Amino acid sequence: MFRDEGQDGLMHRAFLRGMGLSAEDVRRSPVIGIANSASDLNPCNRGLSELSTYVKEGVRKAGGLPLEFPTISISEPFTRPTSLYLRNLMSMDVEEMITTAPIDGVVLLGGCDKTVPAQLMGAISAGKPALMVTAGPRSVSCHGANRQFTVDDAWPLCDRRRVGEMDDAEWCDLEGNINVSVGTCNVMGTASTMAAIAEVLGFALPGSSLPDAVTEVRKSMARRTGIEAVAAVRRQQQPRDQVTIESLENAFRTVIALGGSTNSLIHLEAIAGRAGLTIGRDRFNDWSRDTPFITNVRPGGVHTLPELEAAGGVPAVMDRIRTKLHLTAATATGRHWGEELDSRVFPESDAIASAAEPLQLTGSLRMLEGNLAPSGAVIKVVGPTASGLLKHRGRVTIFDGIEDLNARIDDADLPVTADSILVLRGMGVLGAPGMPEVGHIPIPAKLHRLGVTDMLRISDARMSGTSTGTVVLHVAPESAAGGPLAYLRDGDEVEIDVAAGALRHLVPEAEFSAREPAPKRAVAERGFAWLHSQHVLQPDRGCDFDFLRGPETVRPVIGAA
Ligand code: FES
Ligand code: MG
Repeated sequence: MFRDEGQDGLMHRAFLRGMGLSAEDVRRSPVIGIANSASDLNPCNRGLSELSTYVKEGVRKAGGLPLEFPTISISEPFTRPTSLYLRNLMSMDVEEMITTAPIDGVVLLGGCDKTVPAQLMGAISAGKPALMVTAGPRSVSCHGANRQFTVDDAWPLCDRRRVGEMDDAEWCDLEGNINVSVGTCNVMGTASTMAAIAEVLGFALPGSSLPDAVTEVRKSMARRTGIEAVAAVRRQQQPRDQVTIESLENAFRTVIALGGSTNSLIHLEAIAGRAGLTIGRDRFNDWSRDTPFITNVRPGGVHTLPELEAAGGVPAVMDRIRTKLHLTAATATGRHWGEELDSRVFPESDAIASAAEPLQLTGSLRMLEGNLAPSGAVIKVVGPTASGLLKHRGRVTIFDGIEDLNARIDDADLPVTADSILVLRGMGVLGAPGMPEVGHIPIPAKLHRLGVTDMLRISDARMSGTSTGTVVLHVAPESAAGGPLAYLRDGDEVEIDVAAGALRHLVPEAEFSAREPAPKRAVAERGFAWLHSQHVLQPDRGCDFDFLRGPETVRPVIGAA
């Protein structure tokens, strides 16, 4: 578009000249778009505008022309009903901006949980070379005697406040201490997990996910990404070619070794779907079963992300499990992971165990299925999860939606004991809508006071990657889609056996299927909410829209500069 010597090229260059670009600037090639999701409504991504200036510097240094553009941004804390509700919309925004703009390639600037998969999904569908810079974790802070305060430390303090054990002064103090900089949640939660996935799939530079959000290292990573984006365009690296069953396996095994977030299952399946692939429960299970959990970082371990970064970050973890990986898969620089790992020296560190003596021999994410979850469910088995509950039978206490939960969970008359199973339904991708991160049902106050710290919890919701506990999530089909969860009643017996991958109710089938299902919310009649209700798929298909999956979404490159 800008290189045309006729009237069109003249006019297009003239518009850029009006922005203050020189005659030389407007003839630079390739043109690299910078998809920026910085927003005041997304504090985790707020630092990306500064990083963008370094990406631009790198693009210019390599001879290219950087042109930045905004997309919508999705914040975990500020988006209602939930961030996942908007992930597919953001992916469409990203895809259409890349497709219709006069750019040869793109650098994606993301960070907070859903912005990373949304950008990757959009870029895969758009089909132009794409690299990514993630926002990086927030700085670790201090609170009271805790000199290494991370976001997961906030949850037990919130429980103390709930049961009347924290005064107003400390409560106010806590508010100022949780987040002391821009950047993403500073544990191995969903944002760090997705950043690691972007690295392994070859979108973000090796070693770029864990440097702190506000460090010089991140700025130089951004500059190098600008340079590499020009190189990626010159070798016409296609995002779709980076997403293969082998690279997805590398990504998921790395998530397992990291003890990463349950949300990764949904996003990896959605990313696969955009490349015309399906991973499926069996593959996830096989990969999880023989990949050790080796990374001793919060929330599943004791060390902080800066300690993991000092040990070599994601590449160091990959190096420990390298016999499980496909080392010919490409990194963001185009060289193979094998070469990349061979070129690095990793210091000894308590933050990463060896594969021979792992923290846990088998996978941190386990798939479950049975008559309560015919299309599957997931449980994260790391850290303080009470092992006694991994094989458990108990009677259920059911909450129909988050309002019901909030209204009754701390009720002194709630019929629960420590052996009860708490069930939250109506919180799936269709029902809530968007599967809010509320599956981590709080321990009822009356049991908390007795010292109960973990119970078996089951829901069709998701859970924050910063939470832990014996929590079964993503039960599919969800209650609102007519899944078995809708037919469960208070007092029914339910059984879980994580080792056997089983989740079932013990109600006679004839009696169960004769029951009336739990009521559902009314479906939206217009707008995005209607589109979502008509087209969103269940978690086992990545919660993508049916019409966005598959090879047919990779369109011919139009509007190349
Ligand atoms: Fe944005 Fe955790 S809330 S990364
Ligand atoms: Mg989250």
